[in-house]
Amino acid sequence: MSEEKKEKKLGFDTLRVRAGYNPKEHQNSIAVPIYQTAAFDLGDTARVDRLLSFTEFGWLYTRIGNPTVNVLEQRIAALDGGAGAIAVASGMAAISYTLLSLAEGGGRILTVEKIYGGTFDSFNKIYAKLGIGVDFVADQDDPESFRKAIRPETKAIFIESISNPNATVLDIEAIASIAHDAGIPLVVDNTFATPYLFNPIEHGADIVVYSATKSLGGHGTTIGGLIVESGKFNFNTPKFPQFQEPVYLLRDRQTGKDKSFLEAFPLFPFTVRIRLTYLAYLGAALGPFDAFQILQGIETLSERVAKQVSNAETLIQHLENHPQVSWVKHPSARGSKYAKLARKLLPKGAGSVFTFGFKGTEAQYNKFIDSVEIFSFHANVGDARSLIINSPKTTHGELRPDEQARADWNYPDISDTIKRPFH
Ligand SMILES: Cc1ncc(COP(=O)(O)O)c(C=O)c1O
Repeated sequence: MSEEKKEKKLGFDTLRVRAGYNPKEHQNSIAVPIYQTAAFDLGDTARVDRLLSFTEFGWLYTRIGNPTVNVLEQRIAALDGGAGAIAVASGMAAISYTLLSLAEGGGRILTVEKIYGGTFDSFNKIYAKLGIGVDFVADQDDPESFRKAIRPETKAIFIESISNPNATVLDIEAIASIAHDAGIPLVVDNTFATPYLFNPIEHGADIVVYSATKSLGGHGTTIGGLIVESGKFNFNTPKFPQFQEPVYLLRDRQTGKDKSFLEAFPLFPFTVRIRLTYLAYLGAALGPFDAFQILQGIETLSERVAKQVSNAETLIQHLENHPQVSWVKHPSARGSKYAKLARKLLPKGAGSVFTFGFKGTEAQYNKFIDSVEIFSFHANVGDARSLIINSPKTTHGELRPDEQARADWNYPDISDTIKRPFH
């Protein structure tokens, strides 16, 4: 039985410690070795020909591939049930390489406003200048809103499975089928859920992205990003000429005919194209040591995330009954409109990040933040340590007040005490 077939039969908790790694190929080392090298000996000139014609698999240069990084890529592909994966230097690189490669040449991305502030901001500040349009649906809770907002130039729908920071949950299956009706892929940022809580591909996503910096790495040591493709999306349509163009690098050495990414790599054209274009030329490569750290984190993913979810639910219950708290946002919070959907899509829990409203003046609020003990005041969720942070002033501080209001970060309509944006 091939390694691949064997892995498909293994359970999640086995895959997270074993997938993508065979000790026999690495001096029988049980832990994944860190290949801390920029380049690899090419052997002889005949071998270089084989490597560059993709008739022999081998390593060349760590910017485009490295054995330690590759174990991480295979592991996340196995956990998500994807056909291929690629690791990059940050979650932002994973999102931007994904969306730029889909919409390159003047396409548009359809998304929602309640997403991570850095992603939201990048849409305004970079994509427009690169000639890529971004549209926001009118009502993210109504899947038909997505259908209405799709334009002829729309090349992908981008959403988060559990949104940062308010933990909203969308009807992913309905949105996936609307995307597919329009011949475009659904891209899901699964950072907050992790593969432990949610498998986007099983629910119709075509591409999954992660900030591995968060719960996957899990210890706050490492910035990293991952992209997984399902292998099921059909890029062989007029919407996606970039996958059909002949590429000299991919030429058939026998006939001399240039091949497209779809011809050369039909099983995982999307991630290979990112590797050989965006990663190769824009260069946000993940280092081998960082890949090792993220692999170490993934080994304990299930226990950490399960514990964090149960801790968060206990805290939510406590805060809901606290006189100083005006509201709590999380699918497990009392009266959440996302409770039903979350029970269906996220039976193991809707993650461990939630927001709450503090009753009091801004001065009292600042005093509260400054007095918190144990919880750190830092901007990296998913770390083994709990944190508290004032998003409107910190992680989303670069957004104008009206942008914060659109994305529901300053909560002017909900809190009776925090009536205005903080800046
Ligand atoms: C949901 C989500 N996606 C992407 C990112 C960006 O990830 P990174 O900081 O690894 O670039 C973050 C960071 O907070 C995030 O919360």
